[in-house]
Amino acid sequence: MYGRRCAVTVALLAAVGIGFVFAGGSLLAQKAKGKTRAAATKYLMRGINQPNCKGLGDLLKDSGPADDKAWDTAACHASVLNEMGHLLMDDGRCPDGDWAGAAKSLREGSAAVLAAVEKKDLTAANTAFKTVTGACASCHKAHRSK
Ligand code: HEC
Repeated sequence: MYGRRCAVTVALLAAVGIGFVFAGGSLLAQKAKGKTRAAATKYLMRGINQPNCKGLGDLLKDSGPADDKAWDTAACHASVLNEMGHLLMDDGRCPDGDWAGAAKSLREGSAAVLAAVEKKDLTAANTAFKTVTGACASCHKAHRSK
């Protein structure tokens, strides 16, 4: 009698365990890539986030963008980063609230940088840029495997 109940329990626990493994696997897949589109998250990071974030940070250093063309380039970087804040939520890529929150700060921070850049307000642009880099850091802390 006990033996049988025990076997049922073991079978149930095994089923639950396998369920967790599957759920865990699909969560990882979701972060690394969306459901249908080809681009892996790491390539969006390497190809879009990284160069635009670095380009923007470099332009906002010291006395800021040197001329109209440089301000326009800063506006370009901020715009593309804003679009990434939307893109990271698309195609079933977002696994949880930490991710969604970081994507939202990326959108809000980059939109604020763009508004400041349009007014050529370097101080406001630098303040808003901290929200952008904070968004990178908070999503990486929660979701980028070491
Ligand atoms: C909403 C989540 C999220 C946000 C926001 C985010 N990242 Fe990432 N990033 C990731 C994840 C997840 C990985 C790991 C991807 C992998 O290896 O599969 C990653 C990896 C990277 C990598 C390594 C890419 C490679 O070549 O392996 C770089 C560089 C990077 N991010 C830069 C940035 C920068 C800069 C920002 C901010 C402008 C940013 N990320 C914002 C989630 C995010």
